[in-house]
Amino acid sequence: MKALILSGGKGTRLRPLTHTGAKQLVPVANKPILWYGIESIVKAGITEIGIIISPETGEEIRRKTGSGEQFGANITYILQDEPLGLAHAVKIGRPFLGDSPFIMYLGDNLIQDDINVFLDKFKNQHLDELILLRSVSNPTAFGVAVVDDKGRVLKLVEKPKNPPSNLALVGVYFFSPAVHQAIDNIQPSPRGELEITDAIQELINTDKIVESVQLQGWWLDTGKKDDLLEANRIILDTNLSIDKAGNIDDKSKISGRVNIKGNTTIINSTIRGPVIIGENCHIENCFIGPYTSIGDKCTLVDADIEHSVLLESAQILEIDQRIVDSLIGGRAKLEMAPQRPKALRFMVGDDSHVELV
Ligand code: TTP
Repeated sequence: MKALILSGGKGTRLRPLTHTGAKQLVPVANKPILWYGIESIVKAGITEIGIIISPETGEEIRRKTGSGEQFGANITYILQDEPLGLAHAVKIGRPFLGDSPFIMYLGDNLIQDDINVFLDKFKNQHLDELILLRSVSNPTAFGVAVVDDKGRVLKLVEKPKNPPSNLALVGVYFFSPAVHQAIDNIQPSPRGELEITDAIQELINTDKIVESVQLQGWWLDTGKKDDLLEANRIILDTNLSIDKAGNIDDKSKISGRVNIKGNTTIINSTIRGPVIIGENCHIENCFIGPYTSIGDKCTLVDADIEHSVLLESAQILEIDQRIVDSLIGGRAKLEMAPQRPKALRFMVGDDSHVELV
C-alpha cells in the first residue's frame, strides 16, 4: 500500500496568503496542514508516500517537508505542471504508484478519525475503492454520493444544483489499481479538469466494488479562512500539550492549556489557553485569548487578540482594539495610528503592511 498526497493546485480561495506560499503549508496549531496528513498515513503503517507538487509552490513544500525521515516515511515528490484535476494528479503519480493499491489524500484536508479502520475495511473486503463521506448542510458545494443502505456507492454528482443526498465526499480515498483504467476512460469536465468523481463513477459503471464509510469525527477542508480557523480551534482544543519553555516574567498571567516554545519572551501579558506560541517571539503588554496560534519569530506589543492565526515573523504593534477571527500572513506588520476605528477583522497576506490611520 502506498499513499499519494495532492499538494499542488492553485489555492485561489486562500489568496492572498497563497500568492506567496503553498496553502498546504499554512499552519494549524503551528504545524503545516500537510504534515497532519503525512502523520496520519504513517500511523496507518504506510511509509511510501508520493506528494504531488506544483511548479509554483513545490520547492517550498519539498524544502520544509524533506525526505520524510522526520515522519518515518520515504517521500517522493512528483511535479504536476498544471492543476488539471485530482484524477490528472493520479495519472501523473502513476509511475510512482505502479500496481500498488493506494490512499489518495488531499493535502489541505484534515480528518479526526484514524484511517486504520477504513484501511482494514478496504483491504479485508478487497474493494476497488472506498470513499469517505460526511453529512454536510451545504451539499451543493461538494461532490455528493448516493449510497444504498449497506454503504455501496450508486452514484456521484459533482457540486449538484439539486443534491440527491447531503453526503459529501471527504478528501481521503482508498483505490485499487483499477482506478488507472477508469481514469484513462474519462474526458476532462467542462471546467477542463480530469475529475476524480468521474473516475469513481466510471468504476461504478464498470461494476467495480465502490463502497463508502461515513465519518463520525470532524472533517475540515482548510482551503478557506474560516475553515482554517475552525481547524485551528479544534486542534488546539484536542491536541495541545502544555509547555512553558519561554521566559515568562512575574507580571504575566498564564491560564488554561498554553504551549510556549523556547526563547520566547512574555512580558506583562495575559495568556488564556488554548494558545500556542512558537520560538523566538516577543510578547509584551498583550492579551492573547483562546484559540490563537502564533508562529515563530512574531512580535506583539500592546495587542489584544483571540481566535486567530499568525504566521512566522508577523508583527502586531499597539493596536488596542481586540483582533478576532483573523489570519495574519508571514512577515505582515499591523500597527495603529492615533485615531482609532471601532472594530477590526483581517485576512492579511504575506509581506503585507497594514496601518490603521
Ligand atoms: P482544490 O481545493 O480542489 O483546488 P485548489 O488547490 O486549486 O484550490 P482553490 O479551489 O482554492 O483554487 O484541491 C484539493 C487539493 O488537491 C489541494 O491540496 C490541491 C491539490 N490539487 C493538486 O495537487 N492538483 C490538482 O490538479 C488539483 C485540482 C488540486
